[in-house]
Amino acid sequence: MEYQWYPGHMAKAKKDIKESLKLVDVIIELIDARIPYSSKNPDIDELAGNKPRVLLINKADLADDRVTAEFKSFYEEKGYFVIVTNAKNGNLKPVMNVVRDACKEKIERDKARGMINRPIRAMILGIPNVGKSTFINSYAKKACTKTGDKPGVTTGKQWIRLSKELELLDTPGILWPKFEDEVVGRNLALIGSINDEVISRDELCEILLEYMNAHYPDSLDQRYGGRDMDAIAARLGCVGKGGEFDHTRACKGFLDDFRSGRLGRINLEVAP
Ligand code: G4P
Repeated sequence: MEYQWYPGHMAKAKKDIKESLKLVDVIIELIDARIPYSSKNPDIDELAGNKPRVLLINKADLADDRVTAEFKSFYEEKGYFVIVTNAKNGNLKPVMNVVRDACKEKIERDKARGMINRPIRAMILGIPNVGKSTFINSYAKKACTKTGDKPGVTTGKQWIRLSKELELLDTPGILWPKFEDEVVGRNLALIGSINDEVISRDELCEILLEYMNAHYPDSLDQRYGGRDMDAIAARLGCVGKGGEFDHTRACKGFLDDFRSGRLGRINLEVAP
């Protein structure tokens, strides 16, 4: 099975990203810590060329720290500068240190040419829903000034000056998920990155329940006092007028619980 969303949009998005990347020194790519493999669009490798790449393993608050650490090493070995983040509530200051490390060569090149303190320019990239806007907003919360167009250099582009050291292109690059692997598709559907129409909610719910029983049975016990759909329906109050369990409503509640972290910190993937 191969999923292909909006091929027209995807082609345009890729073209836009390619153009924008010419303007930046470094790419800041976000992935979801619960599925650090499935949430990474392989097209970015091709688009990035030789640009240094910072990888944010975001939503780390929803994932298992041990697994996240393994993926951090895995991607570092592949040449990424990796940092684990919680864009919603976490401390994002350390991101600048990693960006600086990634851009060491550029900084030294600038110095050699007498260009001191030229800001690093970055672009945020990632599939939908990984936290790109949240990251930009959280990071830019204080010192956010739009620097506007700079003739001849950034025509049509808006930059957010985050500090003297860092400017961000204000529109993140969105890459649609693309995959041939069915498991990747399921993982994206489970975290809600692709809509429930691609795989039915009932089917997703069944997959999640099986996975939770195999890997996190205690989380099911803690939240629902049981490990099957009846226990979930009972605990979530999904009961019909005649007292029968309403599994359709329970499925929605179960998926919401997982996506929001109410089932605890869960990973759907382990590092290769
Ligand atoms: P995008 O631009 O990449 O599409 O993602 P966006 O920032 O819109 O974030 C998608 C959802 O993920 C938002 O939730 C956002 O709050 C949440 N989010 C982003 N980063 C983190 C993180 O590090 N940890 C957690 N737990 N959540 C994160 P939402 O429900 O759509 O919006 P809201 O109700 O939070 O405002």
